[in-house]
Amino acid sequence: MAEPLFTPEQQKTFDTELAEILTHYPPDRKSAAMLPAVRLLQSLKGWCPPEGLTLVAERLGVTKERAYEVASFYVMYHLKKPGKYVVDVCTNLSCSLRGAESLLGYLEDKLGVHAGESTEQWTLRETECLASCGTAPCLQINEDHFENLTSREKVDAVFAKLK
Ligand code: FES
Repeated sequence: MAEPLFTPEQQKTFDTELAEILTHYPPDRKSAAMLPAVRLLQSLKGWCPPEGLTLVAERLGVTKERAYEVASFYVMYHLKKPGKYVVDVCTNLSCSLRGAESLLGYLEDKLGVHAGESTEQWTLRETECLASCGTAPCLQINEDHFENLTSREKVDAVFAKLK
């Protein structure tokens, strides 16, 4: 038998919070709540499993394909279970000019994971501009932002603080 998507407590939270989210949208436009609904799913599961997207689709009255389309468009939604830490390294122009490729290569060696891949501990990704071009190069670890990573010592100091 398949494992349930949510624990009973998670199911209660999902139902309660989705109901609250839906109060912000017209009853005949529930599909407009797709982004916060997918965000809610990810906050409870840590990622967006297919059965979770199917549930979101059912609750919003759209097809599961529509939920997948939306979730797959945004990099902040994880369609595969990520590592404990998601490390996003900006490789856009300003960061690239300030050594982003070297930073990414260093992290691949340091973390033992290739860009675009995950281990239980790490997900390492190249990402688009993180809106910190003036303090490039930069990266984000989960929801924390780090900039001016112009030396390996600075990078090491950031990672040394992770628990
Ligand atoms: S180019 Fe890297 S933050 Fe903008």
